[in-house]
Amino acid sequence: MIIFKSADLLYAELSRRKNSGQSIGFVPTMGALHLGHQSLLERSKSENDTTVCSIFVNPKQFDDEMDLINYPNPIAKDIDMLRHVGVDILFHPTVDQVYVPGVEHEDLDLAGMDLIHEGEQRPGNFQGVAKVVKRFFEVIQPTRAYFGQKDFQQTVVVDHLIKLESMDIELVVCPIVREPHGLAMSSRNERLEDVKRDKAAFIYKSLLKFKERCYFKSLQEAKETTVKYLTSIEGADLEYFVCVDGVTLNEVTQLEDAAYVAALTVVKYDDVRLLDNIILKDER
Ligand code: PAF
Repeated sequence: MIIFKSADLLYAELSRRKNSGQSIGFVPTMGALHLGHQSLLERSKSENDTTVCSIFVNPKQFDDEMDLINYPNPIAKDIDMLRHVGVDILFHPTVDQVYVPGVEHEDLDLAGMDLIHEGEQRPGNFQGVAKVVKRFFEVIQPTRAYFGQKDFQQTVVVDHLIKLESMDIELVVCPIVREPHGLAMSSRNERLEDVKRDKAAFIYKSLLKFKERCYFKSLQEAKETTVKYLTSIEGADLEYFVCVDGVTLNEVTQLEDAAYVAALTVVKYDDVRLLDNIILKDER
């Protein structure tokens, strides 16, 4: 595995590979790699000639400084995992390589998708994500980019960004990988004690039950029951539970409102924000 710190050198190397006809798969990460990342990397390896992984804890997407400071950063362990998976290139830049001093990074037109749901809870987060992903896409010029469905809203924002910038990149959204009891894998899970991780499976179980209920009750009734359950769990603080059109992210009140519908939720459990979602319908 070759490790690049310089954006210019990486650009030169990947331009050479692309010009010789190679396809490039790209998996962006903020490190603290887990089996969810591994599944994205393996998928990229199976579909591309070269797989690039980036590890960069992007300061622009943190609205809470303590969250940034406490973000796990086990780089040696991450490098071992990337070598084990057989990743070709790691991009591990410093902040200056990503946000070049003196270069303006203006806000992007995210059609308001950055301001709702997760964006309302974490102001500036999706502008930060869009800016860093745009910069990575320009440097890496991937044929395919791999994102996990766990961050559902992020995948919709990235899809929008690719269209907005007319980039010739295929977005590949990969299924959520879960811990044995059902908690969606996330770098932030590290902050939960083992026993709490098992208990946190109530989130996924409630999503599965919600999906079942939607088919014999109205979406609103099913939602009320699920919200009541989620707010009754000791130590859990429900931030939001919303059903959305999976293309526009607009809230829907009935399954018939859109061809692609997902339920998105965030529950703060033991002071850790846990995101999860489930696809209710996909008739695109
Ligand atoms: O999903 C993440 O880990 C981050 O939001 C991403 C896509 C690497 C951008 O910093």
